[in-house]
Amino acid sequence: MFKREFKYYKSRCSPPLFDNVLNFDLNVCHNSEVTKKRPIVSSEHKNCSKYGLVDVKQWKIFEFLDKLGLIFIVNPFTNQGQQYWVEQCLQEYTKKPNKLNIDPFKELQPGEELWETAQKQDGLLKKLRWATLGYHHNWDTKEYSEKARDEFPPDLAELSRLIVRAIGDRAGDSYRAEAAIINFYHLDSTLSGHKDVSEPNMTSPLLSVSFGQSAIFLVGGDSLDDPVKAMFLHSGDIVVMSGPARCYYHGIPRIVPTHPEDRPWVGGGWELTAAGRYLDTSRINMNVRQVLLPGEESIKR
Ligand code: OGA
Ligand code: MN
Repeated sequence: MFKREFKYYKSRCSPPLFDNVLNFDLNVCHNSEVTKKRPIVSSEHKNCSKYGLVDVKQWKIFEFLDKLGLIFIVNPFTNQGQQYWVEQCLQEYTKKPNKLNIDPFKELQPGEELWETAQKQDGLLKKLRWATLGYHHNWDTKEYSEKARDEFPPDLAELSRLIVRAIGDRAGDSYRAEAAIINFYHLDSTLSGHKDVSEPNMTSPLLSVSFGQSAIFLVGGDSLDDPVKAMFLHSGDIVVMSGPARCYYHGIPRIVPTHPEDRPWVGGGWELTAAGRYLDTSRINMNVRQVLLPGEESIKR
């Protein structure tokens, strides 16, 4: 099921129809596949605007009835909030000690920073695919280790916490954001189907925040044969994989160019900044995880 759907939406020689792709921007309130959830407001949410979010009472939160724990939050960011996070991803989170996919290629001289260098070195940004923060995911061993751990950005940790609290996740107060992958996609990028199972903590939710160009997101189930759902992720949208959906198969078969009128950076006053121009042909995804079990301070082996 999953592989067939992935191939269908990925195909360039026979472009897919989008009829069966759920679009939360349109009429999903009346969709029988999801139920609307009321945000859980806590005192921490008075900080929403500090983190670029609109008032939590206005968030539109949906849960899939046949994939419990799979939650969709329709863009809860202000336009300026989106700009802040996009700039953090490009300018701050790409700085050392964070790890980048291009590190082994020695594109940067010692002390040089990616974003600054990219302003004068054409083609460098095209090579950027991911940055890891906090516990750095080891793509070969698929394990986290104390030897590859740096401070997690406090702003992203707090944003993550506000999201987890707003959906009333059972991780509650013990939730900590400890690892993130910032994914950078071009118009022809894909992310194959996978489960995220490297984290010792498999009960805390996975958070996924999207900016820039839209994507088609596929979610299956525990098995590759389970039914698959396709949905659009637009700039600002958040997907939470929690409870049973925490370890479901998922992937991105296609980036879909966003209509210029639907681009929050266009007309938002930042379309002419370097970050805004980057988004004209790119998508950014902040993928946040808790690694440790509640009460633990380090990885136990
Ligand atoms: C991941 C992931 C999804 C996305 O980084 O593990 O599933 O929307 N990303 O980019
Ligand atoms: Mn994933």
